[in-house]
Amino acid sequence: MRLHVADHPLIAHKLTTLRDERTDSPTFRRLADELVTLLAYEATRDVRVETVTVRTPVSAAAGVKLAAPKPLVVPILRAGLGMLDGMMRLLPTAEVGFLGMVRNERTLEASTYAERLPDDLSGRQCYVLDPMLATGGTLAAAIRFLVDRGADHITAICLLTAPEGCRRLEQGLEGVAAPVTVVTAAMDERLDERGYIVPGLGDAGDRLYGVVG
Ligand code: URA
Repeated sequence: MRLHVADHPLIAHKLTTLRDERTDSPTFRRLADELVTLLAYEATRDVRVETVTVRTPVSAAAGVKLAAPKPLVVPILRAGLGMLDGMMRLLPTAEVGFLGMVRNERTLEASTYAERLPDDLSGRQCYVLDPMLATGGTLAAAIRFLVDRGADHITAICLLTAPEGCRRLEQGLEGVAAPVTVVTAAMDERLDERGYIVPGLGDAGDRLYGVVG
């Protein structure tokens, strides 16, 4: 697994406001969206392209276009939905599949409760959107799900990560042949006893969409 912590003052600036408990939901949603677009720029560095030639008004020009099959963007419900528009702004022709994962708050184990994905992901590059890489259980389960369907290249975009989550993700991906990269805005200090990232930003789903119990 490769970890890329995006080191850019604009990313750090937006992340600081996201963390602030005084930031309201509309502002949080807008900033998360902008932050994802900046992270997506880093995350798509290895997106597959094929060479093409176009005619400019002056001459022929060699260039590239996104290769087939189209990349698949997979937000993990519910909080990953808050990252979808920011990602699609950069990859508008990508397809989108949905994966609902829930974490048992006692055992911290992740399980799938909903999925809307192609049955066959052979040869697909997948971009998984999950704002908080905390225990790593949800992301490991999601990535295994995609690789079991044939995905052969995975990039996860996470707003924040914790060291424990990265270690657990790495263990959880043992035996996974597909290359996995995590792109994040910051590596925080640790997890607390409830599995929250410290200092983190709280519950990303609640801050995006409110507390639904
Ligand atoms: N999920 C969140 O939304 N926040 C955390 O800090 C950890 C997991």
